[in-house]
Amino acid sequence: MSSPSPDNLQARLRRPVSAITAYDYPTARLCDEAGIQIILVGDSLGMVVAGGEDTTGVTLEQMAYHTEMVRRGVKRSIVVSDLPINTYRDPEEALQSSRRLVAAGADAVKLEGGFGQLEKVRVITGAGIPFCAHLGMLPQRVREEGGYKKKGKTDLEARNLVEAAVALEEAGAFAIVLESVVASVAVEITGAVTIPTLGIGSGNDCSGQIRVLHDVTGAFPWFVPPFATVHGDVAGVTRRALAAYLWEIGAE
Ligand code: KIV
Repeated sequence: MSSPSPDNLQARLRRPVSAITAYDYPTARLCDEAGIQIILVGDSLGMVVAGGEDTTGVTLEQMAYHTEMVRRGVKRSIVVSDLPINTYRDPEEALQSSRRLVAAGADAVKLEGGFGQLEKVRVITGAGIPFCAHLGMLPQRVREEGGYKKKGKTDLEARNLVEAAVALEEAGAFAIVLESVVASVAVEITGAVTIPTLGIGSGNDCSGQIRVLHDVTGAFPWFVPPFATVHGDVAGVTRRALAAYLWEIGAE
């Protein structure tokens, strides 16, 4: 399957850009029908679908499997799939892994990191595969970092983030996720690049926002990140339906 060019993807994005994760056919179809512009098959599925402590247990084949499900449900949205940890250790591996996700139906791929990843990004975009960057808090490094921490708190960290964003745009990225970045630094980054920034826990003034679907719909009640606004009660609806089912069959 050939993927659209980064320019084509850019042209399809209107600001504010709406982005959310989906991991299966029905939710992807609902997101697509709702007019969400970017659907991310995020490796967050390792947590909110698989019940893992973090995203570091996710494999490339799992990502390909979920990308196939999402692809079947999507007509209009741009489908971006995450390269999981240890599937982009060098540029050649990054390219092969990206090709696997494109073959599964991704329009674009995303990997985490800045300056250390530029050569990989150039190889991916050079092969014609649209690429979305991810800066700030990098969930695949949560173990090394000892938790989920806000980024851009010092001048040095802030400058590094802005310069990395500019370099990622130059390397061909069509969008940048900014996760848990100090809001004023996210504004600075957004002003320094021409591609859209997609904020999550990074204030309200990015070019758009991205969220984990379960946080928005209330489908994962056991943990809700502090920045998330829960707009639904999927867990409550499911619990009530299960209680009604138990009542129906006389098994309460
Ligand atoms: O995997 C994911 O869901 C993500 C979002 C947090 C942006 O990368």
